[in-house]
Amino acid sequence: MTGALAFDDGSQAVRVRVPAKINLHLGVGDRRADGYHDLTTVYQGISLYDEVTVIAGQQPGVRVEVFGDDAEAVPLGTDNLAVKAVLALGEEFGVAPAVTVRIAKRIPIAGGLAGGSADAAAALVACSRLWGMPFTDRLVKVAAGLGSDVPFCLSGGTALGTGHGERVEEVTANGRYHWVVATADGQLSTPAVYAEVDRLRESGIGSYSSAVTELLEALRTGRAEELAPQLRNDMTEAAMSLRPQLREILTAGADDGALAALLSGSGPTTLFLARDVHHATALAGRLRMRRLAREVHCVHAPAFVSVGLSPAQPG
Ligand code: C5P
Repeated sequence: MTGALAFDDGSQAVRVRVPAKINLHLGVGDRRADGYHDLTTVYQGISLYDEVTVIAGQQPGVRVEVFGDDAEAVPLGTDNLAVKAVLALGEEFGVAPAVTVRIAKRIPIAGGLAGGSADAAAALVACSRLWGMPFTDRLVKVAAGLGSDVPFCLSGGTALGTGHGERVEEVTANGRYHWVVATADGQLSTPAVYAEVDRLRESGIGSYSSAVTELLEALRTGRAEELAPQLRNDMTEAAMSLRPQLREILTAGADDGALAALLSGSGPTTLFLARDVHHATALAGRLRMRRLAREVHCVHAPAFVSVGLSPAQPG
């Protein structure tokens, strides 16, 4: 079978490394009749990864094992987005799953980095390999049914997202960007932040920006200095309204010399753009000393999904 490793006991495994996503532009439009908001967004994968190994055996059903950061906070039943992904793919293609999904988590949960969506996308990529399915629109449709960010997470890289975020189109991004990622204690619920966007808009605070032409031009230059002034997140005010401490860390990062300070998705993770890798290391050191973040990581972007061929032995 293509792309899967076979073991002596007859089981097979595929390991997928999937990046967290950030939104270089997150334009939030009006709430639609279906409850979603129209989005214009530019997604980019960053080098903070979860690793998802799907092991196909004999026993029917989907089992899930989670290791790593915050593992205890990840649901193990059918609430788990990776489990939902396997079941949805099986249903779409008429396959009865008999798999274990092993997730090594590094992407913070409910942090605005699409960690759950990344795991779902990785499970889809792994199962599609195990079950010998090509990467087609049907796979993307299953991804879109699981969550707005999941289609982007199938490949990572850099993409323009429209609709409610599920319609993605790859865009050109030259060069490599260096970011400092500051994670926060606790989570912010995405629906709650969208509801706060709506509430603030009713009182005239905030507006929808769908203009991304200049951002896309900046990405073609490959220069962080060009990118910095084009970054935008329409959810910033709403997230700060729910979590006032966010203002403090965003201001601190800017004071410490970041080219730009940006909320990641619906938060509470914050992002600081650096000139280069040395600048990112120095900036991360200064931010750590301030003790405003739970963890501070240096990452680069864009980052992509990769399918590995050295899976752990089946459990
Ligand atoms: O699509 P996903 O499951 O990630 O979205 C989670 C929730 O975030 C949705 O149920 C909705 O409340 C909100 N959302 C939204 N508009 C979007 C994307 C998400 O209102 N474009």
